[in-house]
Amino acid sequence: MQILNYYPICLDEIEAKVAKKMKRNSTQKCEDVEPLDNVKEITNRFGEKIIRVDGEIPVDLPINNEDRFLFISYDQSSLTHGLHKYPAKFFPELPRWLIKRYSKEKDLVIDPFTGSATTNVEALLARRHSVGIDISPFSRFLAKVKVTPIDEEELERCKKRILRLLVNYRPDKVAVEDIPTFPYRDNWFNKEIILELAYIKKCIENLDTNDDVKDFFKICFSSIIRSVSNADDNCTRTVIRKRLNKVVNPSDALRRFAEAILTNIPKMMEFSNLCPKDITTIFPGDMDARNIKYENETFDLALTSPPYANAVDYPRMHQLEAYWLGFANGSLLPLKKKQVGTESVTVKEYKDLHLIGIEEADKVITRIYNKDPRRAYIAYKYLLDMQMNLKEVYRVLKSNGRYIIVVGNNKIRGEIFENWKYIIAMAEKTGFVLENYFASEIIKHFIKVPREERIDTDWILVLIKK
Ligand SMILES: C[S@@+](CC[C@H](N)C(=O)[O-])C[C@H]1O[C@@H](n2cnc3c(N)ncnc32)[C@H](O)[C@@H]1O
Repeated sequence: MQILNYYPICLDEIEAKVAKKMKRNSTQKCEDVEPLDNVKEITNRFGEKIIRVDGEIPVDLPINNEDRFLFISYDQSSLTHGLHKYPAKFFPELPRWLIKRYSKEKDLVIDPFTGSATTNVEALLARRHSVGIDISPFSRFLAKVKVTPIDEEELERCKKRILRLLVNYRPDKVAVEDIPTFPYRDNWFNKEIILELAYIKKCIENLDTNDDVKDFFKICFSSIIRSVSNADDNCTRTVIRKRLNKVVNPSDALRRFAEAILTNIPKMMEFSNLCPKDITTIFPGDMDARNIKYENETFDLALTSPPYANAVDYPRMHQLEAYWLGFANGSLLPLKKKQVGTESVTVKEYKDLHLIGIEEADKVITRIYNKDPRRAYIAYKYLLDMQMNLKEVYRVLKSNGRYIIVVGNNKIRGEIFENWKYIIAMAEKTGFVLENYFASEIIKHFIKVPREERIDTDWILVLIKK
């Protein structure tokens, strides 16, 4: 009886909540941005000089080696960028600036670790063709939705239909075969939520519309899965804590999904209106950042933020979404092994010390090895994979094309692992010339990375193929 009190959901309440949130976001944006005077020199609490850029980054912003910038982003959830959370996602102003600065219209851009496709969305809006490579099928699916415009009327028609179905939900409308099976399902989710999620998924699949529209709704569906699960919302590891730091009630999946579609449809419409029709964006499914199946000298610009060793475990991070969307149903190991920065290594691999041939990196790897041979191998393997990626990108870039890498440091077993320095050394060995490097201070991460391993500064490396 008590459970039934949660249903049906009240659409008026949800619409009012979303309208209030949208109003708050739009006024914040207008008040904060100073479009004509957005570059200022400031001094931080350590007495260091920092160039602060609010909002849009001027294309010709002067940059010198070791400059430190504080970029304040206002567009993190604008257009399709805000459809779904993604760990270590670019803020859109950064790729937008770099793409405009280092390429021209109709050029071909590649992001070999494309994640949620921030680079590709910005390339598309700046009228550059682009390719995004990611090892994760979930990421490629999200990427495809983010660059695919949708007809406004069709979206509105399907929205009305879906909202009506959500109000008409009853648990007995879900059949056993509608519910996917996957490891620990009944621990990850309460039983009422499992039924609601299965119902939403079935409603989307049964919509009388094209696949692009269905896929958009599937991404809205995916965007609420973590929040209605019993996993900690703020941790990259997707874990169930002994004491859950949130309350999940029956009907939460229905209400959150309604909120997600009401929030995301205007964003998708705005994107669709801005999206050029003569630009192509491709996410090939059979590639890897270490094996880019394109001819030599294909691309004008490469731009990426690679994963880190020992930081975000992407397959584990997105496991619940992947289970519900049908991209995984059992072990995550095969996908984990393909990840650059993988932690899935065997004793046979890590029992001996492996060195990469970069003096500074090898000193750190040796120190880590003395404390923890497994972590040392993970760090070594990461650099080996990045070396392969540098070689591949060098090969597929046109002469004088740039590879821009945004990368931070991290800590492994208490040792600072200066990814950016090692990547510069490996890039130079590959044949790249370092044109410039500068820092971007990170002020906002949506997700908590364990404290010891916090990444504070991103280094932006501009490499040229000579
Ligand atoms: C830091 S994220 C990229 C985030 C992206 N810049 C964005 O704005 O969303 C790194 C990505 O690299 C992907 N990745 C890891 N190993 C890979 C590999 N071997 N080939 C291609 N992509 C890989 C991960 O799945 C993850 O999506």
